[in-house]
Amino acid sequence: MNQNPLAAGLQIAREPHPFTIVIFGASGDLTRKKLIPALYSLFLNESISNFNIVGFARRKWDDEDFRKIVLGIINNSLLSKTNENLKKEFLRKVFFISSNFESTGGYAEIENRFQKPLNRIYYLATPPTAYTTIIEKLGETGLSKERDTGFSRIIVEKPFGRDLQSAHELNRVLSRHFDEQQIYRIDHYLGKETVQNIMVFRFGNGIYEPVWNNRFIDNIQITVAETEGVGTRGNYYEKSGAIRDIVQNHMMQLLCLVAMEPPIDLDPDSIRDEKVKVLKSIKPIPYEKLEAETVRAQYSRGIVDGVEVPGYKEEANVSEDSTTETYVAMRLFIDSWRWAGIPFYLRTGKRLTRRLTEIAIQFKNPPHLLFKNWTASSPVPNNLIMRIQPDEAITLHFNSKVPGYSTEMRPVNMTFTYGSTFGEEPPEAYERLLLDVMSGDSTLFTRRDEIESAWSFITEIIEGWKRLGAKELHHYRAGSSGPEEAKLLLARDGRRWRKL
Ligand code: BG6
Repeated sequence: MNQNPLAAGLQIAREPHPFTIVIFGASGDLTRKKLIPALYSLFLNESISNFNIVGFARRKWDDEDFRKIVLGIINNSLLSKTNENLKKEFLRKVFFISSNFESTGGYAEIENRFQKPLNRIYYLATPPTAYTTIIEKLGETGLSKERDTGFSRIIVEKPFGRDLQSAHELNRVLSRHFDEQQIYRIDHYLGKETVQNIMVFRFGNGIYEPVWNNRFIDNIQITVAETEGVGTRGNYYEKSGAIRDIVQNHMMQLLCLVAMEPPIDLDPDSIRDEKVKVLKSIKPIPYEKLEAETVRAQYSRGIVDGVEVPGYKEEANVSEDSTTETYVAMRLFIDSWRWAGIPFYLRTGKRLTRRLTEIAIQFKNPPHLLFKNWTASSPVPNNLIMRIQPDEAITLHFNSKVPGYSTEMRPVNMTFTYGSTFGEEPPEAYERLLLDVMSGDSTLFTRRDEIESAWSFITEIIEGWKRLGAKELHHYRAGSSGPEEAKLLLARDGRRWRKL
């Protein structure tokens, strides 16, 4: 039975069993940017103490070389100013196996050198093309097997497949060697405090659920806007585009959390059952409706935060005639009792005017517009905004009478901000998620049927786009709020996107 910290009162400071974590692809970006800083931070706050970190990659490094790299990562991070003795103690727990992924030598070394602790976590932080080989080898060498003396768990990074078929195939390979409860498909959005709070907000309070449906809600907008371009990830992004990079995973998860029914309890499977139901009830967007219901676009040269930036096609490792989308907007419907007829508008893009991830729930107007003859600022519909990042907050917009003798009303708001209320920074998503794997809690990880259901909806769109060809690729200026066509998607429904 999985331990569940949500059920246990949202405790994050748990000392998990001793473990050895093997990071495949330890010379890559993810290890540098996320994994080492997260592990070091967990060590510093004493969430973990008895562990080995084993880097596994082709580089001809030994333990000492890797320790120097890890020290460099720490010294370049926000934790650089920590006690030198603590850094040394951490580095003593760091090792390296130099091997390619195909030969069994490296795997034998895991078995022989790291008998203690016998609890093992394998982290696939390589390009996805290496996943199958590594999984097969872990299986062949017996490393995937759970033993009485220790667990064996595997963390699979995104991208998890590139369409339904490849995701299904990857699941098939995984399930040949690992049981489902050993597999942790990571989506770092689920590690964000504000994302976890969606469920607490909805189901831990009595006043929202009664109005959380098509009788009271007019529409829901989900936005994931970034100011960053593709940076050094052109190679990856060319094959991915915004729909695979953000919509299939992060946005589908946000959609699930905002639209799901209350689970019967906090068991990881009870929660994931409800998310799967949402994904299965999204109305497919057929080919004939694709141009009307979706917008795909690419950024061209422009100015972001006062700095001139190149267009997508001018980025490193991007083809000059690339038709990869860096922006997606769509309107979708969920075919269920609760959501019938309510549009969900989704948009995400790189190089937009502002970094912002939020869910905006717009309520219907009151049934009788009593104050319609009042002057000045027009009444706005009630909006509940869940700001995921930055400036994490929840805001309710409503109308109020302007003081004085005038008959005027004006939109005002009530805001709760995480920072000022709790006065502390939430843990980094990767810290939380790694600790969950160490403790055997899969609540915040994606189950097999969940990932395939999300892919099923997304794959039909990707295939439709392929049939449509490049003609439906629009453009937007870097630093803008997206393409004009995205505005039309809402304008024809008499609505507007929230301002970015
Ligand atoms: C990643 C994507 O999964 O999420 C990136 O691959 C994107 O392209 C990133 O920039 C956004 O994450 P966050 O946590 O900064 O919102």
